[in-house]
Amino acid sequence: PLTTTGDLVTRAAAAGSAVASFNVITLEHVEAVVAGAESVCAPVVLQVSENAVKFRAGQLLPLARAAVAVAERAAVPVALHLDHVQSDALLRQAPDAGFSSVMYDAARLPYAENLTATRAAVDWAHTQGLWIEAELGQIGGKNGRPPLDAHAPGARTDPDEARSFVADSGVDALAVAIGSSHAMTTRTAVLDHALLKRLSAALDVPLVLHGSSGVPDDELTAAVAGGITKVNIGTALNIALTGAVRDFLTERPEAVDPRSYLTLAREAMTRTVARTLQTLGCASA
Ligand code: G3H
Ligand code: ZN
Repeated sequence: PLTTTGDLVTRAAAAGSAVASFNVITLEHVEAVVAGAESVCAPVVLQVSENAVKFRAGQLLPLARAAVAVAERAAVPVALHLDHVQSDALLRQAPDAGFSSVMYDAARLPYAENLTATRAAVDWAHTQGLWIEAELGQIGGKNGRPPLDAHAPGARTDPDEARSFVADSGVDALAVAIGSSHAMTTRTAVLDHALLKRLSAALDVPLVLHGSSGVPDDELTAAVAGGITKVNIGTALNIALTGAVRDFLTERPEAVDPRSYLTLAREAMTRTVARTLQTLGCASA
């Protein structure tokens, strides 16, 4: 059934575990995330990024309506989250489109402007009952900036600044920069666990890890043990999808029916989802 992100995060925090939040671009992503979660009996978040909405000519509803329909029929709790929102117009569509939470992304702005923009987004989101996440200390790799294809250590979130930011903005959760980077295709990120420990001690809101596709399993479990409560994964699904399609079409260049390779792509994503949930300890026994 459809549930709320706030509820899943609260439960994960109480259990000392994390909830996995997967970026979905197509209906096959949505189906694979839910099938993978069902296969290991774990709750899950489906997240749609502003970039995914741009890919659909700026239309949120076609994918959102499909995601709600799949979530409502799921055997496990599924929540919908709007990810990396910069546009206020998109932010305001979230409640009617079935989203219980948003990540408002003003991390590209200088501190004071990030705080002002986030504060306004939080004030509005809370009038709608939305759970809202924001980011401090820009996590690299988004929109190819920086780096395009290699992992760079990137920025870090300062614990003192983070404490003020959370208190002054009123956010429900904070995305922190601790060494992960978006869109990595190798799992070679090295996390700053000492910094995570300081952030976790300084803040009383759940912490969110972005760019988790590039984080090795042992680093991921250590991050959850160190206080990460929401883990965002996107690229890992696209690696699975594209790899399956590439393999099939290399073998069968004469194929034309998309169902032949989309079935394999969906299965490959389902396996990635199930594996990730097991690594995170989200799966119920
Ligand atoms: O918000 C989305 C995540 O940070 C996904 O990052 O595609 O590098 O796994 P990723
Ligand atoms: Zn992200």
